[in-house]
Amino acid sequence: MDAEFWLNCWKNNHLGFQLEEPHPLLVAALPTLPKVERVFVPLCGKSPDLHLLAQHYSVVGSELSAIACNDFFAEAGCEPAQESFAEHVLFSHQQIAIWQGDFFTLPAAAVKDVELIYDRAALIALPSELRERYVQNLRQYLPQATLLLISLEYPQEEKVGPPFSVSEAEIFRLFAGAKISKLADVDLTGAGFARRRFLTSKLVESSWLISWESQT
Ligand SMILES: C[S@@+](CC[C@H](N)C(=O)[O-])C[C@H]1O[C@@H](n2cnc3c(N)ncnc32)[C@H](O)[C@@H]1O
Repeated sequence: MDAEFWLNCWKNNHLGFQLEEPHPLLVAALPTLPKVERVFVPLCGKSPDLHLLAQHYSVVGSELSAIACNDFFAEAGCEPAQESFAEHVLFSHQQIAIWQGDFFTLPAAAVKDVELIYDRAALIALPSELRERYVQNLRQYLPQATLLLISLEYPQEEKVGPPFSVSEAEIFRLFAGAKISKLADVDLTGAGFARRRFLTSKLVESSWLISWESQT
């Protein structure tokens, strides 16, 4: 998936991944998450999860699309400040700041002091070759952080991604050496996935708490 694909999704309002309410697995995990200052939300879109997280943390998002950033704040009825950096525009209002631009060129300073990462539909939005780079970036910039990851698994040969299937085995390979705990599995086979319904023979969403802490 290149940048053009995602920019076109936003331009054409093809937002099948968009939730109307905060993700139930985030709601369930919230009480158990570390009580820290800042949470980083990579590939954040205009998710309602940002508002829920902002009730507990200062939120830093990364999002490619300017349409997503503008819509997020407009739909919340606020006018964000905007500041231009080399390859990014920083949108910010109260507890929420979103770095608009490519996650893979995000300045390290953007995620300074972050101790928690929340990934819903970020890892699974990326093809396998980028998933590895994505995890390496997170690990390099935020070696002390805990990650709440929501993953999705289905027979990949039955559907073209995104979202891509990321198996349990792949999670253990990508995060090798980290402490990995599964929090929940939800069987969505035959049920809706955000605004869509996939006709795969199996569809399971899982939440994970992952920490590199023991490595450092
Ligand atoms: C499947 S959507 C999920 C959005 C959000 N996490 C949610 O739960 O609604 C993936 C998002 O990642 C953004 N994206 C894709 N590649 C990106 C990149 N390299 N840097 C920043 N954002 C990116 C897309 O524009 C899109 O909004």
